[in-house]
Amino acid sequence: MTTTEERSTTPAPSAAERTFPPGFVWGTATASYQVEGAVAEDGRTPSIWDTFSHTPGRVVAGDTGDVADDHYHRFREDIALMKRLGMASYRFSVAWPRITPQVSADELGPVNPAGLAFYSTLVDELIAAGIEPAVTLYHWDLPQALEDAGGWTARTTAERFAEYAEVVAGALGDRVRTFITLNEPWCSAYLGYASGVHAPGRTEPASALAAVHHLNLAHGLGAAAVRRAAPGARVALTLNLAWVRTEGTSEADADAVRRVDGLQNRVFLDPVLRGTYPADVQADTSSVTDWSFVREGDLALIHQPLDVLGVNYYSPTVVRAWDGSAPRAENDGHGNSAHSPWVASTDVEFPELPGEKTAMGWSIDPRGMTELLLRIHREHPGLELLVTENGAAYDDVVVAGQVHDVERTRYLRDHLAAVLDAVEAGAPVTGYYLWSFLDNFEWGYGFSKRFGVVHVDYATQERTVKDSALWYADVVSRNALPA
Ligand code: NOJ
Repeated sequence: MTTTEERSTTPAPSAAERTFPPGFVWGTATASYQVEGAVAEDGRTPSIWDTFSHTPGRVVAGDTGDVADDHYHRFREDIALMKRLGMASYRFSVAWPRITPQVSADELGPVNPAGLAFYSTLVDELIAAGIEPAVTLYHWDLPQALEDAGGWTARTTAERFAEYAEVVAGALGDRVRTFITLNEPWCSAYLGYASGVHAPGRTEPASALAAVHHLNLAHGLGAAAVRRAAPGARVALTLNLAWVRTEGTSEADADAVRRVDGLQNRVFLDPVLRGTYPADVQADTSSVTDWSFVREGDLALIHQPLDVLGVNYYSPTVVRAWDGSAPRAENDGHGNSAHSPWVASTDVEFPELPGEKTAMGWSIDPRGMTELLLRIHREHPGLELLVTENGAAYDDVVVAGQVHDVERTRYLRDHLAAVLDAVEAGAPVTGYYLWSFLDNFEWGYGFSKRFGVVHVDYATQERTVKDSALWYADVVSRNALPA
């Protein structure tokens, strides 16, 4: 909410700046395990990320989310900082093991009032600061007890997720407008169950595809549950879709694009938005699985009305046909060779791209943002789009209380310009969440990669506003990109 006083300080538009649509929602995003800490407090039980990060060799430097940004205790000062920067919204996730710590495959178990109270207070404090909460229900911290019962390879996980979603939406739905069921199910399925670089660290291609289906089912069941519990809320799903392209010219190169597009994009988009699985993906993976985990009626359950599609975009995905004459190039644009387990039986590779990269080793190409948004708009006209993540890691240093993160600012400027290109070409994009508000636990990379626009000194928990945050605050206050 803008007060008259704040409005009067809004900079006057300059002729050369490019404006965003009126009401465009500006925010930043985080996720529970990456920022909260307090992993054993107020009744929380372990998630798969507690187990994974405490397993030697899984996370760089043996880092864990035990303390992280201590956001669980410091959320009030973090909200005050967001307010100072003029943020209109904050996307955070709810840690399932705080809400139903005794969940099992068969039953949800009792709701933990202290767990719900934390998020309820967080929501109240955000609203009091004039910041709109946007809630992700699942950002990867699956209760360990559910993984012990099969994790996402088990159908019961999707059923319990829907019950948990109903509890959270019932408790927060009077104050929260947007519930995002899942964040990046691609990562949960392929990184968790195929390449094993994320929790639970399994390397079973067939399990990864069963996980894809059960995550899709969790979204569908969860979407219906949110609607039951919070009829006025908007239901969203966040996907890390890829702008898949090739520099090759052969038919085999074009086929590599089709395969990766299928496994990365269409295997999520089609069931959710069309109620079907792509036949080519099922055929491509027939040596891995017979897809018998898809039961009659599942696709109708998955194909729920969707109010908003969340799009996370960081870097392009370039593929080409692999002829086997040299070792397969595995630069998949996400720095983790995630595709290898499930394209192992195929002829696709991910070549290294020349040009600038972020500290993650991810190539920078803002065109992908535009292309992706326009493609979804073309294929699903009328579907509201929200950029739920975009940002970059760099090796920031604090010098005399400041962080001059010039490269991040440039990355953000170029990607926001790319969002505007899509908007101007007709894509109904209604907001943008920068990843991330704070430096935080970057999964398998631990604290070695910094995505925040606010620097965190992990020894002291001191927050330092980076130059990129000040630049972003200016964009937000103008609702425009300065020339
Ligand atoms: C996607 C994930 O949603 C988020 O948790 C992660 O930190 C960022 N991308 C950066 O890798």
